[in-house]
Amino acid sequence: MHFHVLTLFPEMIMQGLDTSIIGRAIAKGIISLEAVNIRDYTTNKHGKVDDYPYGGGAGMLMQAQPVYDTWKAVSDQIDAQGREGKKTRVIYVTPQGQTFNQSMAKEYAKEEDLIFLCGHYEGIDERVLEEIVTDYVSIGDYVLTGGELPAMVMIDAISRMVPEVLGNEDSGETESFSNYLLEYPQYSRPEVFRGKEVPKVLLSGDHKKVDEWRLEQSIERTRKQRSDLYEKWEKENQDYFIKKAKREARKRKKACKSQV
Ligand code: ADE
Repeated sequence: MHFHVLTLFPEMIMQGLDTSIIGRAIAKGIISLEAVNIRDYTTNKHGKVDDYPYGGGAGMLMQAQPVYDTWKAVSDQIDAQGREGKKTRVIYVTPQGQTFNQSMAKEYAKEEDLIFLCGHYEGIDERVLEEIVTDYVSIGDYVLTGGELPAMVMIDAISRMVPEVLGNEDSGETESFSNYLLEYPQYSRPEVFRGKEVPKVLLSGDHKKVDEWRLEQSIERTRKQRSDLYEKWEKENQDYFIKKAKREARKRKKACKSQV
């Protein structure tokens, strides 16, 4: 996966993503990251990239020319490397976009190249957006000062879904949001911390019981914290409740028998 970020603050992107798991994946060549400075492509002799909006209004807009020429240079470079730069998805990070989620991260992780366009000021001239952008994506219903942080958030989430970026192959599958459920609580040593004990089932060595407990915890946590996700999960997992009821009935029967 090759990430290309069109930005006025390339150092923010490079410094922000060059650590920990993502930094290691870059060092190993599993993913690559380049941040391209839009200002380097302006034809304005003073290096200006913004201007007043037609029709008036607050603030400045990023102009079409430097943005288009930066995209063209990056696309040509992808073409020159034998991939299809002109068809590469261009994600404009904007509060007006579709809200980013885990399944989008998984979908984007299948691409060979992704171009992110980061806006500043009051936005970008609509004509260049129409020309180059394929996806409008937001990270949530709040407004940030620029697109760099949202782009970094998305690149981090997408990179984790690229094969071999995470050490443990299945940790991307068992975590929050896979199958609409939030992740279950986890515990490590010591067994007692400030008087609180690790749940007994986790020390039992019975993997089936541990899995059952974890699933129940995930379901309960999702029901409490994210009713929107819980409803989706419930709709798709009716059989879980039927099986659970049967299991409990069996247990009750067994308990009755042992009393007799
Ligand atoms: N730019 C400014 N705010 C944003 C947001 N919430 N999501 C994506 N891009 C943005």
